[in-house]
Amino acid sequence: MSAAAPANTHPPEPDEPFDVGSTDDSLERMIGLFRTLGDTYRVYVPARGSYTYVIHHPDDVKRVLVSNHRNYIKGIGLDRVKILLGKGLMTSEGEMWKRQRYMMQPFFHRRVVTRFAQLIGQANDRFIARWEQISRRGEPVNLTDEMSELTLQIVLRSIIGTDLDRLSAEAGGNPFEVVTKDTGRNLQFAFKFRSLTKLIAALIERRRGSGEKHFDFLAMLLAARDKDSGEPMPERDLIDEVLTLIVAGHETTASALNWTWYLISQHPEVESRLHAEIDAAAEVTAPSLADMESLAYTQQVINEALRLYPPGWLLSRRALEADELGGYAVPAGSNVLLPLYLLHRHPDFWTDPEAFRPERFAPDQEGTRPRFAFMPFAAGPRHCIGETMAMYEMLMHLYKLARHYRLRYVPDQPLELEAQINLRTRYPLHMKLERR
Ligand code: HEM
Repeated sequence: MSAAAPANTHPPEPDEPFDVGSTDDSLERMIGLFRTLGDTYRVYVPARGSYTYVIHHPDDVKRVLVSNHRNYIKGIGLDRVKILLGKGLMTSEGEMWKRQRYMMQPFFHRRVVTRFAQLIGQANDRFIARWEQISRRGEPVNLTDEMSELTLQIVLRSIIGTDLDRLSAEAGGNPFEVVTKDTGRNLQFAFKFRSLTKLIAALIERRRGSGEKHFDFLAMLLAARDKDSGEPMPERDLIDEVLTLIVAGHETTASALNWTWYLISQHPEVESRLHAEIDAAAEVTAPSLADMESLAYTQQVINEALRLYPPGWLLSRRALEADELGGYAVPAGSNVLLPLYLLHRHPDFWTDPEAFRPERFAPDQEGTRPRFAFMPFAAGPRHCIGETMAMYEMLMHLYKLARHYRLRYVPDQPLELEAQINLRTRYPLHMKLERR
């Protein structure tokens, strides 16, 4: 469908204009539009007085994110994120982004990430002990909330380490809890969240004064130097990066685990294979990244969950200069949307796309589809900096919990998608933990 149309014609468009990508029902409508209009369409957005282009073909996705990435900056929806995250890695552009990414890339090197083994292991052990208590009382666990808490704990400890305990003791509770407890993602939340700025500034001052040695992202941010000027990161930028890592690293991973457990609970044959792989691996308290990456089937399960429910379900860009996508002319300044949710279920590239089949990710299957048909962590220079960390965290969580427990889904509420910035379940999932 991609390169057929001449560049002087317009792609198809729906009869009704709407603010595609920004309305609560965008995912639903986009599923329908992809079915009827195909790989490339555009929607007139009255509020903007312009067309937004929506693309689904891996070749076009590759063009926007990789081969012609210089022509694209982040697009609609990012304004809301900017209120929250200021000028952190997720939202910055140009020279500023390049400088920050260059400084922060080494933090996420495998050699560094594997040093978080104990931290990730201990966080899981603490949560598992708590769930054990709940399940002893015969109660189900609120999986959605627990995944959110667990991933928040891990990301916070990876950033501020043991200072989290001190700050929580001083504040009479985790001061960062607003990130999980406040599920509304509105302006009020944004302001509360920004007030954490002061807390981080105080922490930076304390660290600078104390001379203590820490191993965490904050220590790395404080030690980072610009490669040209040799200057440290300005404090404002540093705080924005801390907030960015908290948000980018927390809800995405929580949502991925939430969906993964749901899918496992619905597929006993997958669950059995997963158990067999994990049972055959040695039981280690703080397994290394390499240990976890040797769990080949567990990785396939996670990838398949990320295919069906990519937490970052919609990428958004804006074209600086005119371009051509799907054989159609895209004018300079156009917004372009890349719905990963639909790319990952594209019937031309996936057999039986709605089915949960982890074997799709077995090594002998990789060549059966284009490289750019699957990208839960995006691709190109702005791909997720935390991918290795996220995979490590998810693998270790499954390894630790599935070894001893089976999770049984309690269908007490309808299972509905909530596609906002991240793709989440609209209502929390409850699971009964059964000791294996
Ligand atoms: C399953 C978990 C995760 C998923 C699915 C995910 C997905 C993504 C995606 C799709 C992007 C690109 C967004 C865009 O281009 O508009 C991204 C960017 C980013 N992610 Fe992740 N992410 C995950 C976990 C993490 C973690 C654990 C961290 C850090 C601790 C992190 C930090 C970031 C940052 C800083 C960016 C911006 C990178 C840049 O523009 O240079 N992410 N992520």
